[in-house]
Amino acid sequence: MIEKEIARWWDEASEYYQKEIADDKLDTVHYGPFGSTEEKLRLLGNVKGKIVLELGCGGGQCAISLTKKGAICTGIDISVNQLEYAAKLANENSVKVKFIKNSFSNLKIFRSNSYDIVISVLALQHAEDLSKIFTEVKRILKKNGIFVFSIEHPFYLLIEPNDMTLSDSYQKTGLTKEEETWPDGSKHKFFMYRRKISDISDSIINGGLRLVKIVEPFDPRDKVWGKGYRRKLVGMIPPTIIFKCIKT
Ligand SMILES: C[S@@+](CC[C@H](N)C(=O)[O-])C[C@H]1O[C@@H](n2cnc3c(N)ncnc32)[C@H](O)[C@@H]1O
Repeated sequence: MIEKEIARWWDEASEYYQKEIADDKLDTVHYGPFGSTEEKLRLLGNVKGKIVLELGCGGGQCAISLTKKGAICTGIDISVNQLEYAAKLANENSVKVKFIKNSFSNLKIFRSNSYDIVISVLALQHAEDLSKIFTEVKRILKKNGIFVFSIEHPFYLLIEPNDMTLSDSYQKTGLTKEEETWPDGSKHKFFMYRRKISDISDSIINGGLRLVKIVEPFDPRDKVWGKGYRRKLVGMIPPTIIFKCIKT
């Protein structure tokens, strides 16, 4: 039910998101607002020949950039409009990526021990049960396989960007309805799940993966991610947090 709502929201938001935020990020993986890139952070290693699955691939930029570097990528998403955009973008860039309409909450179509890398950029905030997903990620990864995911930093979500005051409680977790204002001034509500950093590390442990690194990057020269980010605030609290895990 919530997942259908999320898919509908992304179908509606896709055109705006691709034009204003995601479209030009094809050179490397961009982990999130001011969140640096794979080129600088080197979390995935050399991807040439690696079998990669992207969860919540959106317009496909991340999978396309990895394919350009020699990876063999599959991207899944629940939004038809995002997937259509992804297929078009891959075609325009003459790269082959398999895009599938599939929720990351149900990964049973993917074979066990078959992926070198699973990646997810700014999508798992929409996941209801992270432990279940991480258990599945472990199942489909090969031994020593890498799982890297980014989300918006839970601390950043608590600050009101205009007056930089604490606007919410870190203790308030679970499903929330967030509001976003689009360039035409219209307001849109969407669902996501708020979590503490300890909730996320618990889910990684419950899923049987080994957490090897947390990155809280701040790259002031990062490409623009919409207009809602204030330089002073992002210099104080990183908007993006990245987790790197291994299947041992
Ligand atoms: C902020 S976008 C990020 C897209 C892309 N990774 C990027 O960096 O541009 C979040 C994406 O997650 C997708 N998503 C949300 N819930 C999902 C689910 N249950 N399964 C798969 N994808 C989902 C949305 O449709 C949307 O495309």
